[in-house]
Amino acid sequence: MQPTTPERWDGLIIGASLATLAGARGYGEIIDGALGWRDGRITYAGPRDALPGPPSSLAREVIESDGWITPGLVDCHTHLVFAGDRAREFELRLQGASYEEIARAGGGILSTVQAVRAADEDELLRQSLPRAHALLADGATTLEIKSGYGLDFANERKMLRVARRIGVELGITVRTTYLAAHALPPEFSDRPDAYIDAVIDWLPRLHEEGLVDAVDAFCEGIGFSPAQTRRVFDAARALGLPVKLHADQLSDLGGAGLVAEFDGLSADHVEHSSDASVRAMAQAGVVAVLLPGAFHVLRETRLPPLDAFREHQVVMAVATDCNPGTSPLMSLRQAMQLACIHFRLTPEEALRGATVHASRALGLADRGMLKVGMRADFVQWRVRHPAELGYWLGGALAGAVWVGGERRAT
Ligand code: NIG
Ligand code: FE
Repeated sequence: MQPTTPERWDGLIIGASLATLAGARGYGEIIDGALGWRDGRITYAGPRDALPGPPSSLAREVIESDGWITPGLVDCHTHLVFAGDRAREFELRLQGASYEEIARAGGGILSTVQAVRAADEDELLRQSLPRAHALLADGATTLEIKSGYGLDFANERKMLRVARRIGVELGITVRTTYLAAHALPPEFSDRPDAYIDAVIDWLPRLHEEGLVDAVDAFCEGIGFSPAQTRRVFDAARALGLPVKLHADQLSDLGGAGLVAEFDGLSADHVEHSSDASVRAMAQAGVVAVLLPGAFHVLRETRLPPLDAFREHQVVMAVATDCNPGTSPLMSLRQAMQLACIHFRLTPEEALRGATVHASRALGLADRGMLKVGMRADFVQWRVRHPAELGYWLGGALAGAVWVGGERRAT
């Protein structure tokens, strides 16, 4: 065995091409590249023939590879902690019932609330972990996970604890988002303002336990009003927590503009966002998170204002929205494909949307690109060109997934 010196990198992959995404546009292609890392951070991302020495002198482990390496994917919007499923509701919708009708009849989100409340913490973890694992196996090395199916203190806490446990079990970054303002629980029927009081009351306690990284709400006719959302955002701001929002999904209540007013991280869905909201988002640097899985499953027809986002340089992210009702989707690569088809994103926009732009939607500046100093989260893909990541439906393209410089069993 060769002696190791502290200067040597932990690992070095040579021969694969890199999509670094490091510049403002383009894949940042490096054909016949090399990627080195040490202590969980990237130490080299460039051409193989510009390495500062022979590979074996540079790193303890040298791996010859082909295919392409991209940054680890970042799924910046999921509801993957839940119990049960909503396949029966899916059947009803196929027979003509709308998502809103089912919700107003007490189904929809509230039926998942019942299932989550009935499951204890271990059971909730047991049911949720395979979904997180599926996302990881297809290249997602950072996940955002929302609460919002507990709708009381103990059950919101249980969901957030399960989200944290998923991060520990899989050894990946999980960012938690408090979404108690997702639906009105039966205990508060006809008393939405009293429920918002409770949501605001629970937040500091959960935050104190280290369970909350951001705060979200469902601002919609079947959710909460802009005034109620504003109260939740005020409470987040008082604790220094960033906000994001289920905004303008089914109608335009000005939700995306409200996020901009609070300098929030992202406005998500945004199918019905107005031109004024788009301008406000651009001004405040709010990311538009596109959720083509929900658009697809709900057979929506109203497209997000994509041209306006491009014109005003609003950064667009892509996420799965993995949830049992509107987006039973367990692959971020599949979400990229749906974004290309439904929203006509280019494969490059979709890849940026699921990496560097998604990182921004989570307020994480240390990932999403292959660049010296960034986290060594990356994926070796069995593809001839990165456009294939937005092209194939299904299949197993991820040859190896690395998180913080460690290869994950996938
Ligand atoms: O992002 N729109 C609200 N929330 C989820 C759906 C949750 C559910 O139906 O269970 C969404 O689409
Ligand atoms: Fe969602």
